[in-house]
Amino acid sequence: MSKSKDILNVGVLGLGTVGGGVVSALQSSPELFESRSGKHIKVVAACVRNPNKNRSAIAMNFPITSNPFDIVEDPKIDLVLELIGGVEPARRLVLTALNNGKNVVTANKALLAVHGEEIFRLAAEKNCFVGYEAAVAGGIPIIKVIREGLVANKITKLHGIINGTCNYILTGMEKHQSAFDDILIEAQQKGFAEEDPSFDIGGIDAAHKLTILASLLFKIPLELDKISVVGIADVELEDINYAKKLGYKIKHLAVAEKSENGVELRVGPALVPETDMLSKVDEEMNAIRLEGNLLGPLLMSGAGAGAGPTASSVLSDIVDSIRNSKLEWASVITNNSDNEPSSDLVITAEQTIASAFYYRLVASNEPGMLASITNILAANNISIEAVIQDEEGKKADRVPILIVTEKIKQRQADATRLALSEMPGIFSPVKQFRVK
Ligand SMILES: NC(=O)c1ccc[n+]([C@@H]2O[C@H](COP(=O)([O-])OP(=O)(O)OC[C@H]3O[C@@H](n4cnc5c(N)ncnc54)[C@H](OP(=O)(O)O)[C@@H]3O)[C@@H](O)[C@H]2O)c1
Repeated sequence: MSKSKDILNVGVLGLGTVGGGVVSALQSSPELFESRSGKHIKVVAACVRNPNKNRSAIAMNFPITSNPFDIVEDPKIDLVLELIGGVEPARRLVLTALNNGKNVVTANKALLAVHGEEIFRLAAEKNCFVGYEAAVAGGIPIIKVIREGLVANKITKLHGIINGTCNYILTGMEKHQSAFDDILIEAQQKGFAEEDPSFDIGGIDAAHKLTILASLLFKIPLELDKISVVGIADVELEDINYAKKLGYKIKHLAVAEKSENGVELRVGPALVPETDMLSKVDEEMNAIRLEGNLLGPLLMSGAGAGAGPTASSVLSDIVDSIRNSKLEWASVITNNSDNEPSSDLVITAEQTIASAFYYRLVASNEPGMLASITNILAANNISIEAVIQDEEGKKADRVPILIVTEKIKQRQADATRLALSEMPGIFSPVKQFRVK
């Protein structure tokens, strides 16, 4: 621990997008952080993979190492910023820092979603602070809002656009009338998608974030494997355009909702009515909509990634660590603490909350097809809200058909998709998305 009470000695693991942004913000206005926290926040050492890389955005006026244990075992460091990402060695480094009595701030959702219980248990045991505001929605201070601003509310529902890459791609497909693959390449060129985008477009990144949010909202364990995860690779330009004709936008939504059986968690593409504010959150922006029993609905929107927005959240955690909110923070996400009992809620494996569903199918152009399709829906006890046979999209032998159902359960929806796919005269695949 630092000798001076007025200095917080910080060791930084990683000087990439986030780490570079944090150090640059600290260096550009040290007085601001000192006046707001009551301490001089001083970067005393950093670790990177390649110490020879040019990092022109920051003044390298501190020692740099490629051995992260130099940081987490350095007795003069008070707080460790874990900004390297991934599970290992990040997990070992965070545990070592906590074992050495250091507070930790991390932006690493992949780490917390899988090893959060272990990390928060150790933090509580060592009476250390673990801040993770930047891990869930980049610059949107959602953790603080849930923990502090909404403390009087019982939250029953969360809908979020929490993956900027998915949102950028879906928005770009509509705006440029381009195919998924073309927009993905553009997103990679502009830095809105990783070189390997599988975690983002496959929905895993959103699932990591939802795991953390749901644990915080409902006092349930961090159980990533209980989330229903669907990515956006199945969304085609036709779906986006048909959704628009029907009055919707397709968004990749993270949903946490209480049902009579427990909590349902899912991420996946959904048709959002154009009248809903979430449908207006475009490009790489994130948004989270919560419903509290006292407040009613609350929507927060802002940048979910990038150096500045993420640094904003990391720095808010550093200031919080100084302002002494450590025990509450450390314990709130886990169900293993003494002062935050876990709820009786369980995450239900089955999605039982009903919603409308959208189907897009291509049927052979022969009499009686529409009647056969509606018979299948009727056989599955499904009423139809809208059905459109797209005469403009008709080809010599086939015609696209769109259906929006009344509210049904996931089980019914899946059975219907299967029955439609197996129907003679239907060309695969049959598309199926939820309607919010
Ligand atoms: N980027 C965002 O907008 C954003 C938003 C929210 C949360 N996050 C999270 O923040 C974390 C960092 O993301 P980022 O985008 O800043 O990543 P990044 O740009 O790839 O930076 C990673 C940094 O960590 C260093 N590093 C990686 N592995 C290391 C190792 N084994 N030992 C020592 N140093 C190592 C790298 O060194 P070199 O520079 O030498 O390669 C680099 O400085 C991740 O957990 C990410 O999920 C990022």
